[in-house]
Amino acid sequence: MRVMHVASEVFPYSRSGGLGDVLGALPGVQARLGASVGVLSPWYAALDGQPTEVWRGEVPGVAGPVRVGELVQGGVRFLFLGLPEFQRPGLYHPDDVQRFCAFGRGVLPVLEALDAVPDVLHGHDWQAGLAVAHARLRGLPGAFTVHNLQYQGRWNLPEAASWTGLPGGMFTPEGLEFYGDLNLMKAGLVCAERVTTVSPQYAQEITTPEYGEGLEGVLLRLTLEHRLHGILNGLDQERWDPRTDPEVPRYADAGGKAAATAALRAEFGLDAAPILGVVSRLADQKGMDLLICALPELTRDWNVVVLGGGQPLLTAALDGWANHPRVVFESGMNEPLAHRIYAGAQAFAMPSRFEPCGLSQLIAMRYGTLPVVRETGGLVDTVPEDVGFRFAAATPDALAAACRQALTALGDRAGWQARVERAMTLDFSWDGPARHYLDLYGAVLNAERPAAP
Ligand code: GLC
Repeated sequence: MRVMHVASEVFPYSRSGGLGDVLGALPGVQARLGASVGVLSPWYAALDGQPTEVWRGEVPGVAGPVRVGELVQGGVRFLFLGLPEFQRPGLYHPDDVQRFCAFGRGVLPVLEALDAVPDVLHGHDWQAGLAVAHARLRGLPGAFTVHNLQYQGRWNLPEAASWTGLPGGMFTPEGLEFYGDLNLMKAGLVCAERVTTVSPQYAQEITTPEYGEGLEGVLLRLTLEHRLHGILNGLDQERWDPRTDPEVPRYADAGGKAAATAALRAEFGLDAAPILGVVSRLADQKGMDLLICALPELTRDWNVVVLGGGQPLLTAALDGWANHPRVVFESGMNEPLAHRIYAGAQAFAMPSRFEPCGLSQLIAMRYGTLPVVRETGGLVDTVPEDVGFRFAAATPDALAAACRQALTALGDRAGWQARVERAMTLDFSWDGPARHYLDLYGAVLNAERPAAP
């Protein structure tokens, strides 16, 4: 089986969130299972000097020069598509729909030029939607994974149509049109033989108006046609392992964790109250406003240590707590500090409004830190009730109540230790999901394929 993943980020070469982590882990496991696996992602400016240029040429409809870089790592062939659009700092920009249209148009011509056309093209999130549509037109089977339905890659028609290189007949309500716009997420959904999302619970939720972001009708239809599946993400258990993590005092069980907690307490001069950790993008999705509104109550019992960057409004609100002795806020991303929080906190809060899968709760549990989570998406599928603390309403009060439950549970030392031990031994390896995807590709290859929309 030859598969080529197409995505806008891949750890460690480019990453802004969980998408990059998945692309950094899943392909290697698939390769170990015997598949021939590649990942095609943008050649961002920050990567210069790393890949070896293996091709340079012209692609019809794409402003050049077009270059392809290559790196082989862990049995996976990483290809990087270099376009003038990617020659600037950072990953994402306001003109991304246009940039990723150029990317999507470039994918197949470049794979052909390199003689690297796979059996299945596996696109991830809206940035890969156009590549899946072009694959469909050429009869190349496609799988498409939704990591986050909130970002869809929309731009007004007819302007955006000319960026795609697709025939005009595809911009219909059954096709890529969405309320007068081009919608590249929808391109992936309607053009792939099989669609997945990153947890079974989210796969159900997105067929409803509450979570469907306007695409619930399309998704419900896919479900009825047995074309939409939930495959839970795994965790790179080598990258995240308290027994070998150089960033923290290493430990293998609940007892050993105390040193990590003491270190975090000392680092920020915290008092003896337990520590509630947060490592998150500061965005609506993550329910950070709920956390901020709950801080007056939470800080009565907990030290709250927050690491994350994002919306200025939320950053400013957290900055306002900077002088409180029980609140620590570090703005931005800081990988070593993230490790120290995962290891040192007793509990870890994720009050997400929606959560396709979520990786932080998996990391937290592996480090023996018990998640306090809203009952949504992958948080439902991954946090057992005898390990973490769950709440239903997206309100500060419900979050605070779940934290009170955690506090009560902390009072029972043996009971807490048992939860921690159980958390640390849960298995979220990528092997099962990686096999599941390989089976899915089998279904993709055998699928009956109606004409392109
Ligand atoms: C997105 C989702 C997150 C998921 C990740 C990887 O970042 O918000 O829930 O874990 O993608 O699939």
